[in-house]
Parts: sequence; C-alpha cells; structure tokens
Amino acid sequence: CGKQEAKPAKVLKVGSEAAFAPFEFQDESTKEYVGFDIDLIKAIGKQMGAEVQIQNMGFDGLIPGLEANSIDLAISGMTITEERAKKVSFSKPYYKSGLTMVVKTDNTSIQSFKDLEGKKIAVQLGTTGADEAKKVKDAQIREFNSAPEAFLELKAGGVDAVVNDKPVNEYYIAKTGGKDAKMVGEPLTAEDYGIAASGKNKELIAQVDKALEELKKNGEYEKIYVKWFGK
Ligand code: ARG
Repeated sequence: CGKQEAKPAKVLKVGSEAAFAPFEFQDESTKEYVGFDIDLIKAIGKQMGAEVQIQNMGFDGLIPGLEANSIDLAISGMTITEERAKKVSFSKPYYKSGLTMVVKTDNTSIQSFKDLEGKKIAVQLGTTGADEAKKVKDAQIREFNSAPEAFLELKAGGVDAVVNDKPVNEYYIAKTGGKDAKMVGEPLTAEDYGIAASGKNKELIAQVDKALEELKKNGEYEKIYVKWFGK
C-alpha cells in the first residue's frame, strides 16, 4: 500500500456528572475522573480506536448536551427511560440498578417507601429518584445538583431521607463507615443504565453496543465490574 498519513485519533467527547461514586467521581489526590463508568467508557473507546475525553457537567445538562452535539456520548449511571429515549438513543443496558432510601442511622420511623408520606426528601435534580419522590403523597421534595449535596442535607438534618440509586447509596454508607446514615427499604424500582448518544446518532450507538459486547466476551467487562463492586 501507499504512503500512510498519520491518522489523528478519533476523539469521543463523553459527558458525565462526576459526583456519583462508584460510577464517576474525581480522585481526591490525582483529580482524575475515575469509577466504573469511566473505566467502561475508556475500554469502549479503546475498542473503537478512539480517545475518550470526559467532560464533567450537570446531570440535567447531559441530554441537552447530546441534542446540541456539544458531547458525543453520555455515561453517568443514567437509567434508560421511555421519556429519555424519545430524545436520545441508548446503548444496550450495561448495569442493573434501582432506587433505595437513605436515612439517619438513628431513624426508626422510615422503613419503607410508604413511610415517606408527609416527609422531607432530598434528591438529585433530573434523576429517576426525583421522579419517584415526587409521587409520594404530601412529601416535600428538595432537589440538589448532586447526590453528595443531598447526603449532606440529610446529615445536617434538613431532610428525613434521600432517594437515590442503590449502589451509590451503598458506596456512600461504606465510605462514611455507616456512622451518619443507613440504607432502608427494598429497591423501589428496577432500572437499567445505558450509554446515550444523540437521537440521530444511531451509528455511534451501534458501535458502542458492538464494543460492549466484545468487552463482555473477552472478560474485560467482568474485570472492571469486579474492580468496583467485588464479586
Ligand atoms: N440513575 C438515575 C437516573 O438516571 C440517577 C443518575 C445520576 N447520575 C449521576 N452521575 N449523578 O436518573
């Protein structure tokens, strides 16, 4: 073959709200973005021969960002919902999640979602947790830009409970040694996380799905899973 031009690596701009450990968060010392989603999207990028650039942004800015083409993909512990699928295209599910509640360690009055009636609930803006909390009768909903802010409000005593994704709640409780808060209740929902692209970018999502399938076959997905969640 003829003279080879040095091909610039394809760049994938990936949006994420990086305060959602263990899926995406900033390493305290290196300031790098780390987590299950970050490792997964980097592995997918590698599979596609592309360089992944993470852009940290508000969770409620991800879908508008995809629609405006300011990012190519979003990976952010984002649940595949019908509502969102009207605006963006989703990859095949890559993680099974669901919503649970977090209350203060000494709280005995909230044990199930039913007990949230008339209570003050903190959630992250634009999330499935916010949608579900809004359905609770007579509850007062406080919406925060990030899950850590919702947890802080619980600690400060401003709310009775936080409704948020189970693996993130578990990570928070483990990280704080269970002294401030505990998780209660059976998961309220069964949710699947998906990687999103602009609704017009079906081709890109097909490539992501292909890469994801490959990573599941070659054991790489499993490795990343075990790294963040154990066996
Ligand atoms: N799974 C929930 C949703 O899709 C919450 C996701 C929040 N993600 C984040 N990186 N803050 O609404």
